[in-house]
Amino acid sequence: MSKLCVIGTGYVGLVTGTCFADLGNQVTCMDIDENRISLLNQGVMPIYEPGLEQLVVQNVKAGRLFFTTDYAAALKDVDFAFIAVGTPSGDEGEADLQYVRQAAEAIADLVNKPVVVVNKSTVPVGTGDWVADIIRKRRNGRPLEFSVASNPEFLREGSAINDFMMPDRVVLGSEDRKAAEAVAELYAALRCQILITDLRTAEMIKYASNAFLATKISFINEIANICEELGADVRQVAAGMGLDKRIGPAFLDAGLGWGGSCFPKDVKALAHMAVLHGSQPQLLQAVMDINRMQRRRLVMKLRKALGNLDEKTIGILGISFKPNTDDLRDAPAIEVIHLLQLEGAKIQAYDPQGMENAAKILKNVKLCQNPYQVAEGADALVLATEWNEFKQLDFARIRDLMARPIIMDGRNLWDPQHLRELGFHYTGVGRP
Ligand code: UGA
Repeated sequence: MSKLCVIGTGYVGLVTGTCFADLGNQVTCMDIDENRISLLNQGVMPIYEPGLEQLVVQNVKAGRLFFTTDYAAALKDVDFAFIAVGTPSGDEGEADLQYVRQAAEAIADLVNKPVVVVNKSTVPVGTGDWVADIIRKRRNGRPLEFSVASNPEFLREGSAINDFMMPDRVVLGSEDRKAAEAVAELYAALRCQILITDLRTAEMIKYASNAFLATKISFINEIANICEELGADVRQVAAGMGLDKRIGPAFLDAGLGWGGSCFPKDVKALAHMAVLHGSQPQLLQAVMDINRMQRRRLVMKLRKALGNLDEKTIGILGISFKPNTDDLRDAPAIEVIHLLQLEGAKIQAYDPQGMENAAKILKNVKLCQNPYQVAEGADALVLATEWNEFKQLDFARIRDLMARPIIMDGRNLWDPQHLRELGFHYTGVGRP
């Protein structure tokens, strides 16, 4: 059993801390947000993530998982100090490292026994060295035996616990092989592939992985747009491509593009790093441009179907950036709603888990209780997020509720033939 502190109880920190506790370690999750910690201490999750609440409660009860706002208590006698704080986008697309700095300074001030500082936050290449430098300077001659390791995370929201417990790989980077191996021990029970590299390479693997996945999605979206012109079906194109083992079927779903707290921020940050060091990230630029256009294309399709959007009522199904999360950060739906509102459309929307967050950030949107309320009086219905709950709707009822039977399926969730038989004008993405 090791003693761990995880600084930051956002998505990554909370899931990582809880899962390490579940593997038998003693874990204290620390956050400066008092409200968040107070909720966690009452067993209330600050985010919606399937299975998380149960795992937190279980491990708190077992005496392995603690939450605190007190750095000193969290860092007392730890073997590993994980940094899992946010790295939001700065003005130029660069990652903002102020919270990483605060965490590094707290470690320097409060730890007095050998420790491995493990960076889980997504940080620019070179940040591990920077963190080591901050700690060294801050100690100002007071000795501390420490190493810095990078342990990028590859969790997906909505399946984060599974992704932690059954990872494709764990990547660890450090200039101190022994430190990396000590972190590897924490993952030993998972019996997964562990790759040990130097610090900068591990940091780069994270950015390159996210950028590649975003590229795959933008690629299939570009193909979808060409399919629309040429009368091919992108879903079958993706299936045909995906059977090639070198390509693989994952992340080839055409739609409204990628959103969330990771891809947009990370692709931008990688492009920014490239420019800063004299490269021209042309592919990354195109990947971002295609993604931005994908939402605009949906608005253009609506404009074409309705003549103009002024005073038209548009129903939006799904607001979260993808299913099984209440996270609305950079959600395609949010951008689509703003674009439609700019053209005078009236919006009514529903999301199975995102309504509380939607109420905080959406203005002049009628927030509905269910998909049928969204359909009521709508001139068009847009599917923005492919929640399971939307797969089997009573479409005859929806047709009767709508002012006009127009459907824009932004995630290719529904069967066009069935909907057309019911009298809908159906438009998907990249489907003839
Ligand atoms: C992503 C990565 O998949 C994780 O490996 C990584 O750890 C995480 O970012 C992170 O850096 O923290 P996540 O943002 O939770 O995870 O969500 P994804 O499942 O990757 O989906 C991202 C976006 O791409 C969503 O908006 C989704 O709707 C979209 N997407 C995904 C598509 O449009 N098509 C696809 O085929 C797949």
